Amino acid sequence: MSRPHLVRRPLVAGNWKLHQTIGAARQLAREVRNALAGPRDVQVVLAPPFTALAAVAEVLEGSGIEVAAQDVWYADQGAFTGEISAPLLLDAGARHCIVGHSERRQLCGETDALVRRKVEALLAHGMRPIACVGETLEERNAGRTLDVVLRQVDAILGGLSLHAPDQLAVAYEPVWAIGTGRNALPADAQEVHAAVRRRAAEHLGEATAAGLRILYGGSVKPDNAAELLAQPDVDGALVGGASLSAASFVAIVRAAEGRIPERG
Ligand code: PGA
Repeated sequence: MSRPHLVRRPLVAGNWKLHQTIGAARQLAREVRNALAGPRDVQVVLAPPFTALAAVAEVLEGSGIEVAAQDVWYADQGAFTGEISAPLLLDAGARHCIVGHSERRQLCGETDALVRRKVEALLAHGMRPIACVGETLEERNAGRTLDVVLRQVDAILGGLSLHAPDQLAVAYEPVWAIGTGRNALPADAQEVHAAVRRRAAEHLGEATAAGLRILYGGSVKPDNAAELLAQPDVDGALVGGASLSAASFVAIVRAAEGRIPERG
């Protein structure tokens, strides 16, 4: 834990949400790929809508940039109209998957228990969950931020065993910061991230928790990314709005590179 920046490779993920036709997704992926050509110390992941997964995976092949889905169902197949499974996501080229995003918790009624089943389904197929947690403004104002976030973390990590810390990432996304232009203060994000890591250590052990990436999400932009990513327990970013432009997304990736100290 004493050299956190060296043990954790930053992860920057672009969550395109319900945006981009297949053609537009291809174009955006191509722009990101071209701008990030060459060696990189940051893991970069793009999460297009389901319909564009295969096209984006094709564009990114060989680039080292990986593809994520934005959700998954817990069963592999069956009578689940409208759902998508980990095997089908793998087939489309996704290796990561966002789960428990607050938009799904709030708009689709996803519970902690459902999010947990999705995490297990992904891990069972060797996919890497990016599991989201975060409090609403009401909960923050009531002083319940850590209660809520740690309850969500318990549901995701309780009793889980990982072979390697990079099998899963946690994204702390305060609900009031998502899409509002109002990011968490870096010190407030750090406080929550540190608490998440302490709780992760209880579930996964110190060594795994020390290597676990905890991303911050919620109005991450090129002009606030560096100060958020400079926090010792902020290991990357889950980027919504700013990932829809290659220029702003790449600027955030560059800010994440800036947190890696010189070698030697
Ligand atoms: P935002 O979204 O960057 O547009 O706030 C982040 C997210 O919801 O993952």
